[in-house]
Amino acid sequence: METKLKELGQKVLENAARTEEVLAATFEEKDEDLQKLFDAEAYSLLGGGKRIRTFLVNEFCRSLGGDLDASMPYACALEMIHTYSLIHDDLPCMDDDDIRRGKPANHKQFGYATALLAGDALLTKAFLVAATNPHATAEQNAEAVRLLASAAGDRGMIGGQIMDLHGETEQLSFEQLIRLHSMKTAALMECSALLGCLAAGYSVDTPEAKAAREYAKKVGITYQVIDDILDESGEEDTIGKNLKTDSSHNKTTFMTYFNAEDAKKYAQNLTAEAVSALSDWETSATLTDLAAYLVDRTY
Ligand code: IPE
Ligand code: IPE
Ligand code: MG
Ligand code: MG
Ligand code: MG
Repeated sequence: METKLKELGQKVLENAARTEEVLAATFEEKDEDLQKLFDAEAYSLLGGGKRIRTFLVNEFCRSLGGDLDASMPYACALEMIHTYSLIHDDLPCMDDDDIRRGKPANHKQFGYATALLAGDALLTKAFLVAATNPHATAEQNAEAVRLLASAAGDRGMIGGQIMDLHGETEQLSFEQLIRLHSMKTAALMECSALLGCLAAGYSVDTPEAKAAREYAKKVGITYQVIDDILDESGEEDTIGKNLKTDSSHNKTTFMTYFNAEDAKKYAQNLTAEAVSALSDWETSATLTDLAAYLVDRTY
């Protein structure tokens, strides 16, 4: 098992490096008047990150016999939306965090207004990149934009963020907490899986996409459970962001309902369910290993 997880870690690093190259290429064209904005976008987008969502897009595509060229633009669009969400999440009016991906948060480096605009620009650029994927059909690209918009919007990631804020002033029920995690974090993970399927030619109503979505939803909730545990008891140097920010905001998180050990057990059970969603899938070994790798992550 340990060797498998090491190999998976290596694949995650390789995917991150490849994604970074493609993302960096989007900033090659300079513009003096706009350079500060471009620099602020690139600062967060190219500044590390595990690129797990891009891994999901690319790996689902690969496992269904699709081509990396077709999935990578969708993966980059997803990473742009994820990075924008982190820039805005760190702002003083949200989680008020100073450190992200091991360096000063965007607003600490560029100021609030520029950070806000850099986030807006990345969100918007994501739709452009998905809509103009040259290795997919116009129909696939329209569907990709629809999936991204619905996962990122008020019934997806943003809906989760508002519930997360409500959870600072009132204690959410456990059912509400699961709903929050499903939207705040799992929605973009589900979208990643569906985009990977789409790039390989499998639309959302296929059995393959349905299984992929089920897997990603469970992996996504697990991902936020582990994030909540790490916020409370992780190592700041390894994680590269401020710790104990959830408790300092009195947020309702998994740590409101569980101690770290029981939260981990909950996450392990969800991971087993995620893996079983792909049990009929002959080429799912890497995705199975990914789920195991993510539940044991320390950053
Ligand atoms: C952080 O996401 C926010 C959550 C939804 C938990 P990641 O832990 O994937 O952050 P990066 O992209 O690796 O920095
Ligand atoms: C943020 O969740 C998820 C987003 C949609 C940005 P958190 O607030 O827990 O993420 P971290 O811990 O700051 O990375
Ligand atoms: Mg937050
Ligand atoms: Mg936060
Ligand atoms: Mg967190």
